[in-house]
Amino acid sequence: METIIRKLQQIKSRALAEYSNFHVGAILVTQDGEEISGFNIESSSYSLTICAERVALFKALSEGHRKFKAIYIMSDDDAPCPPCGACRQVLFDYAPDIEVIMVGASGDVRRAPLRDLLPYAFNKDRLIR
Ligand code: THU
Repeated sequence: METIIRKLQQIKSRALAEYSNFHVGAILVTQDGEEISGFNIESSSYSLTICAERVALFKALSEGHRKFKAIYIMSDDDAPCPPCGACRQVLFDYAPDIEVIMVGASGDVRRAPLRDLLPYAFNKDRLIR
C-alpha cells in the first residue's frame, strides 16, 4: 500500500488543475497487474474538464486494455475521495467488476466494489436497439 500511495501522490502532483486547485490522481490496475495512471485535466471552459479516473480509463482503453481489477484514487483532501457520478457510469460501462480504493491524503483508506457505488445502474443491456 505504501508504494501505491507514493505513486498516487506523484501523479496527483502533476494534475492540471489551475481553476479548482483540487488535484486528483488515479491508478487503474488491469487484470494482469499493469498500472495505468491519470490526473484531472481542467479546461478554461470549465465544464470540459475531465476527471483523473476517466483519464486513466481512456488511456488504458486506447492502449488496448479491456480487463481491470481495481482503481485507486487520491485527492488533496485528507478524507478518501469518492469518484464523481460521471466517472462511476463510465467506469461501470468498461470495468463493472472493479474495486474502488479511495485513499485520503492523510492515508485513510476506504474500499468499495464499483457495483455498490452505482446501484440499479444503467448500461448497454438497457438500450433498445
Ligand atoms: N475530480 C476528479 O478528478 N475526480 C473526482 O473523483 C472528483 C473530481 C476533479 C475534477 C475537477 O478538475 C476537480 O476535481 C474539482 O472538481
